[in-house]
Amino acid sequence: MAPAENNAESLLVRARQAAERAHCPYSNFHVGAAVRCDDGSVIEGCNVESASYGLSICAERVALFSAISQGKKPLELAVSCIDTQSDAVPGSRMPCGACRQVMQELLPSKAKVSIDGVGTKQLEQLLPAPFELTQPNID
Ligand code: THU
Repeated sequence: MAPAENNAESLLVRARQAAERAHCPYSNFHVGAAVRCDDGSVIEGCNVESASYGLSICAERVALFSAISQGKKPLELAVSCIDTQSDAVPGSRMPCGACRQVMQELLPSKAKVSIDGVGTKQLEQLLPAPFELTQPNID
């Protein structure tokens, strides 16, 4: 196996492990993410739900925000929806739009995103036209 595939697979293993820790009593849909950082470390995240549903957060954002809060630079991400059945539509394994926007802001534009059961995509493929905020001129 080529080293790149090996890296993607090892990151997916970490994402699957993180999914086991999901707090998802409302959806019972366990998701895990793993982020490889500039210092070689891997930071994991899982979805965490609230009884006030809109306050819930996806696994990908938990992993990315955790990496940032630890002073690390995220380089690559893997995500696993471990409850998706083998005959499910591919979309049931894909990162949501909100997470794609956050990935676009916190990962390099050419970053690899490995999606369990789907394959490895380049971030630009997942979100071709992201929102970008131009800072207002405050002179
Ligand atoms: N979820 C994620 O963690 N990541 C995604 O990209 C899509 C959805 C979570 C949110 C919620 O806890 C559960 O999956 C069902 O939508």
